[in-house]
Amino acid sequence: LCSLRVASCGIASPAAQKLNTGISRLSFPKDFIFGTSSAAAQYEGAAAEGGRKPSIWDHWCTLPDKIDDGSNPSITMDQYHRYKEDVRLLSDLGVNAYRFSISWTRLFPDGRVNPEGLAYYNSLINSLLEHGIKPFITIYHWDLPQALQESMGGWTNKEIVDKYVEFADICFAAFGDRVKHWITFNEPCHSLKYCYAEGIWPPGVKSDTEVYIAGHNTLLAHAAAVKRYREKYQAKQGGKIGISLDGFWYEPVYQIPQDVAASYRALDFNLGWFLSPVVYGYYPETMRANVGGRLPHFTEEEARNLMGSIDFLGLNYYTSMYVKDSPSDIWQPAGYNTDMRAKTLFDVDGIPIGPKAYETSWLSIVPWGFYKLLNYIKKEYNNPTIFVTENGFNQVHAPYKDSMDDNERIQYLTGHYTNMAQAIRDGADVQGHFIWSFLDCWEWKSGYTNHFGLFYVDRNTQDRLPKKSAYWVKNFLKPDRGLI
Ligand code: NOJ
Repeated sequence: LCSLRVASCGIASPAAQKLNTGISRLSFPKDFIFGTSSAAAQYEGAAAEGGRKPSIWDHWCTLPDKIDDGSNPSITMDQYHRYKEDVRLLSDLGVNAYRFSISWTRLFPDGRVNPEGLAYYNSLINSLLEHGIKPFITIYHWDLPQALQESMGGWTNKEIVDKYVEFADICFAAFGDRVKHWITFNEPCHSLKYCYAEGIWPPGVKSDTEVYIAGHNTLLAHAAAVKRYREKYQAKQGGKIGISLDGFWYEPVYQIPQDVAASYRALDFNLGWFLSPVVYGYYPETMRANVGGRLPHFTEEEARNLMGSIDFLGLNYYTSMYVKDSPSDIWQPAGYNTDMRAKTLFDVDGIPIGPKAYETSWLSIVPWGFYKLLNYIKKEYNNPTIFVTENGFNQVHAPYKDSMDDNERIQYLTGHYTNMAQAIRDGADVQGHFIWSFLDCWEWKSGYTNHFGLFYVDRNTQDRLPKKSAYWVKNFLKPDRGLI
């Protein structure tokens, strides 16, 4: 394999073409979005360059024992310097969209626009467009300015809403002439649980109350930013705005009423926590019943602003879990237990996992769960337009030689494309899919131990080396491909 730092090197692998999967580019509408997904803290690096200031993650990584391999996000994949070659690689891969996030502390440190940050994102967006790749922007992907954490307490202080809207407004004003898809927040459920309930992510709070307050303020900030976009920018710029939520599918262990009810509670406490407010303007009834007075209330005006506050749902789906009715845990008193590692149960469903040279961690391959989740959202939430903003496979502790022949990732993608195509045929309004991730990158608490990329990155040279799955995706995305 040659290094694809030089895109003209091309991606073509006869081995990948031999896989007969029965799903093809032609199984999807012509204008379907096929992209890859990323985030600033995980990709950009250049943490102390170009006027960027520290985020809560930069600060967190200076504290002892917070990151599994002791790494920090100061260099990561160095996309800040290498974005032009990355765009060429994306173009060579054949995607028509790229999702990335804006670093708040690069664009808007200390409450002023940083010209170097502005120039960077302008140039990235322009490069993408020159290559026919649509930019999908996540405004907030977990990297709050450390200064706001210290001065006002971050997401548990309601005043954060105005700060966030100010930042979002700058993004709309600066880039909205070219960016037509905005995502206000990424995976608030998953992140706030770690940040404010379990205390293993910054700011390290362990509380069964603050997690709901932080969630509430996030929802208010989302609604306020959408209102701002709709009133001030949308008619002129003609874009769309949504939110990216993490959705596991929760399958009852037994088809008995108790476990079935537990699985619906699990859906409510994760996806529903944020999806119900942005569609209907209120929290799921099961949450209100189980969390009681610790779940804040929306005023009538807040509820009105929240209701219908997405033009599309960004859905991040990775895997499914089995659910059993059981006593509650503390922060999430919904009375269920999940088994994330029910691999033996999942493995019998058609896609064998292993034996192989790396672990798969929490991520079992469950494409049918994707179908069920898409169908569930269609029925329970008025069939929203969906962009699958993340979907991908993880190799844990995978050294170079073991990670390149990533057949499991190809199986993963095949299974998920197949189930997504079926869900679309059955009426779900899915308009796009983004693979997490383009490159192996920095994975928060897991540091560099988790590998989601289509490309391996040699961190000494920063060379991007295509795995077998990159060849497969390139082949899959050829516009005129029939069955492959
Ligand atoms: C969720 C997040 O949005 C992303 O930052 C993370 O790397 C992936 N999923 C994989 O865990």
